[in-house]
Amino acid sequence: MDEIIYLDNAATTFPKPDVVHEYVYNFYRKNGVNPGRTGCDLALNAEKMIHDTRKKYSNFFNQSLVSKNKIKDPNRMIFTMNATMGLNLVVNGVVAPRDHIITSLLEHNSVIRPVNHKIKEGADATFVAPDPEGYLDPSDIEKNIKSNTKLVIINHASNVSGVVQDIKSIGSICKKHGIPFAVDCSQTAGVIPIDMYESNIDFLVFTGHKGLFAPTGTGGVCCADHAEIKSSLVGGTGVRSADPYHLEEFPYRLEAGTLNLAGIAGLSAGLDYILNKGIENIYNHEIHLLRMLQEGLLKIKGVRIWGTTSLEKNKRVATLSTSIENYDASDVGTILDVEYGIQTRTGLHCAPLIHQHYGSAPRGTVRFSIGPFNTEEHIVKAIKAVAEVAADRN
Ligand code: ALA
Repeated sequence: MDEIIYLDNAATTFPKPDVVHEYVYNFYRKNGVNPGRTGCDLALNAEKMIHDTRKKYSNFFNQSLVSKNKIKDPNRMIFTMNATMGLNLVVNGVVAPRDHIITSLLEHNSVIRPVNHKIKEGADATFVAPDPEGYLDPSDIEKNIKSNTKLVIINHASNVSGVVQDIKSIGSICKKHGIPFAVDCSQTAGVIPIDMYESNIDFLVFTGHKGLFAPTGTGGVCCADHAEIKSSLVGGTGVRSADPYHLEEFPYRLEAGTLNLAGIAGLSAGLDYILNKGIENIYNHEIHLLRMLQEGLLKIKGVRIWGTTSLEKNKRVATLSTSIENYDASDVGTILDVEYGIQTRTGLHCAPLIHQHYGSAPRGTVRFSIGPFNTEEHIVKAIKAVAEVAADRN
């Protein structure tokens, strides 16, 4: 085995672009002091980089909901340590004990668990089912709205099948009914253009270490101008230290403690990389490889693909779940890793409800997820490996 073929980019993109490593190293080496805690030049450099990154992301996602051209408030772009933390902040900051939440069976545990904890506290939730391909019908969201529905929270793209939901239609339903709309963009931020204004998104939650190429331990929530959310995280802010309570104004409302300066430098450089390369070019490359992989796998006896096989633009990200007849998914993953050097992720992918819905639980599937540094050669090798493994038992 000469090289590792990394096909687990839905877990985290690897490798990261060299420019990200270089920027993080240089920025942190030169300015690695505590931003917002002192007035020295280095701290001011750090603060400026953080503020510029907030601006870049609020523009990238077109954070304003009031008007397309309104100047966005970058302080409503909040940094978190990952998407899970952002989703917790949204669920806990928006939903009260007797409220109703609408979500879906496609969600990751980063939504399922905060919602289940709210149910334990007295809230109510509806988990809408998708069609057999994995697409939600926006009218099913509307049908489930109750007088106490206070949040619709939907996964933009499934980390199991790559299916991308029609957030524009769901957002317009939420707007019509005056219900805050939160979108988990863990699998799409940096991969598919997302416009908060166009899709009426109140809270856009993202992770840094996937399509945005930042280090792990990074993420954020973009809150639309009018979006209302309470703080559930309190502590140090570096300003108004005599105040006994946490500050109401953004970004402090949703941030406490020292920020991940090196990580935010990575978010900044990762977005620059995407903007230079072109988000569409990155997407087209990944979908080209997904098409090759899918076509190759579908020709192999005993191989099944779970969820959509659509390759329609921006209706799928480059993630595919498969299984081989007469094999346990985890055994396939181990053989691919040990004998072929191919890294996938097997099991339930922290998204148990969709596996139960498809019938792929409890053992789960073998997930291939493609990133910008994969090549046609990787895909040819992966198809050959699966064909050899399948041929042993089919
Ligand atoms: N949520 C990540 C995945 O799907 C870790 O693998």
